This record gives sequence, C-alpha cells and structure tokens, in this order.
Amino acid sequence: MTVLEVLHATTAYFKKHNVENPRLNAEHLLAHVLRRKRIELYLEFERELTESELAPLRDLVKRRGEGEPLQHLLGTVEFCGHVFLCDKRAMVPRPETEEFVEFLESEIRNPRSEILDVGTGSGVIAISLAMKFPEAKILAADISDDALTLAQENAALLNLLDRVRFLKSNLLANVEGRFDLIVANLPYISTQDRHTLSREVLRDPAIALFANARGDEFVRELITQAPSRLRPGGMLALEIGIGQSDALLSALAEKNYRDIYSKNDYSGVTRFLFARYG
Ligand SMILES: C[S@@+](CC[C@H](N)C(=O)[O-])C[C@H]1O[C@@H](n2cnc3c(N)ncnc32)[C@H](O)[C@@H]1O
Repeated sequence: MTVLEVLHATTAYFKKHNVENPRLNAEHLLAHVLRRKRIELYLEFERELTESELAPLRDLVKRRGEGEPLQHLLGTVEFCGHVFLCDKRAMVPRPETEEFVEFLESEIRNPRSEILDVGTGSGVIAISLAMKFPEAKILAADISDDALTLAQENAALLNLLDRVRFLKSNLLANVEGRFDLIVANLPYISTQDRHTLSREVLRDPAIALFANARGDEFVRELITQAPSRLRPGGMLALEIGIGQSDALLSALAEKNYRDIYSKNDYSGVTRFLFARYG
C-alpha cells in the first residue's frame, strides 16, 4: 500500500470507530511510525510502504479505535510550543490550558515572580511559565506521585530541574512560603457527570478529573487556603469548569479578594478566573 492508501484506509477505520478528526489522527500515527513530520507525508503520498513500516501502525490504529488517546499513543503532546511527555500517569493537557498560560504570561509583570502551580499534573503550566520567565522561581505541587514523576521527567527534558521544584501536597497542606502568583487547574468535574465524558477523557486518571458532587469543591477550598500563601497583592488564577464561574466569582468576593475578573476560552465558556489578595 502507498502512504496515501494507508491514510485513506486508516481514516475510514477511524470513522467507523467514532474517532474524532479521523484523518488528522491517521496522519499523526503514520508520521509517528515513519518518524516523519506530519506535513512531510504529503511529499511521499505515492511511496509504497514496506511490511516492517506497516506492522507497528496496525497496533496503534487498533488501540486508537478502542479509545486510547492519540497523545498516549504518540507518547508526547505539544503545549505552548514545547514537547512534553504524555501518558496515563497524568491528564492529557487541554487546549484551553494553553490559553490559560497565555493569559498568565500577559499578567506576570515581575519576571522574578515566585509562582506556585497547584495540581501540576504533567507539569505543563509550571514548565511553560519557567521557559517564558527564566528568572522566575517555580514550585509545582500535586497530590499524585505518578503525576509528579512525569512532571519531573518533563522538567528534565527542558533542563529545568534546577529552577522548578516539585512537592507532594494535598492543595497547600505542605506548601511553605509566599507567592506572587498561585495558579491552578484542579479537578472540576462533578462525579455525577462521569457518564457525559468521552472514552478518551475517561483514560485520564480519575484523580485529575473528578471533584465531588458539585465539581467546584477543590477550587473553593483553594480559594479559602490561598490568602495565607499569597504575598500582599499576589494573584490567584484558576481554570474552572463550564457553569461554575458565577458561584466561584461570588466565593472570591466573599473571601475578600479584589480586582476579580474572568476570561472566556475560545469557545466562549467563562473558563479562567483571576483575583488579587491583600
Ligand atoms: C485537571 S488536572 C490538571 C493537570 C495540569 N495542571 C494541566 O493543566 O494539564 C488536575 C491535577 O490536580 C491534581 N490533584 C487532584 N487533587 C489534588 C489535591 N487535593 N491537591 C493537589 N493536587 C490535586 C491531580 O493529580 C491532577 O494532576
């Protein structure tokens, strides 16, 4: 079979197995096994593939058809222009979180800021900020040992182990010191909404997805805890779930935060909250 024939056959298979963006998935997987950039496939559409090139693709295509996330199969994900390791140890980073990091970058005025990332997962927020602000001091915390190990591997890949520290902590329980910015993308899905999630999302660790019955419990608890760890005028920045903004904006006001505002993601959902304390 030629490159183009394989792409057609794989795309048809993915359509039949309800994979979103079937052609794009096919291109990513074929490029991965051929060790090419996706765009380079277009230069060799007519090339005949050998059996040794096709064999590893079959397994990946089957697993993708069964709902394994593309990023797990590739083993990496691109986030804010950097390549991160990605596997079942932590949540697959989402495009909204890249927007969150872009907003944060425009908010950070002091390049030497001390920044805490709560629920760091694969480390994408902490590490992207460390890359953007080489003088910033960054602490990345998570309750999950697996996530912390993956985040450290990601920091090592970008030579950041001396600038990003990692800490196992339930929210701020083990955190010491004060920060100019506390950022968090914590689990915000209600346990009752489990049935609404795609099979790909359900491959994320449950500890990364679910809060309790409301969904916003972790975020609320962080709103309560953060003032004791913020420098005067320091900022709390939160990524939140659909429909949670009104109640959480009220919670910030009740806890005496100031300069409270929200931003929408590209799809128009109020997704990010920002507030200063003291
Ligand atoms: C939604 S994921 C976000 C991961 C990463 N920050 C990102 O944006 O891709 C939430 C993360 O919070 C962590 N987490 C869950 N409960 C926590 C808690 N009580 N304290 C600290 N981290 C927690 C999970 O292990 C998971 O890595």
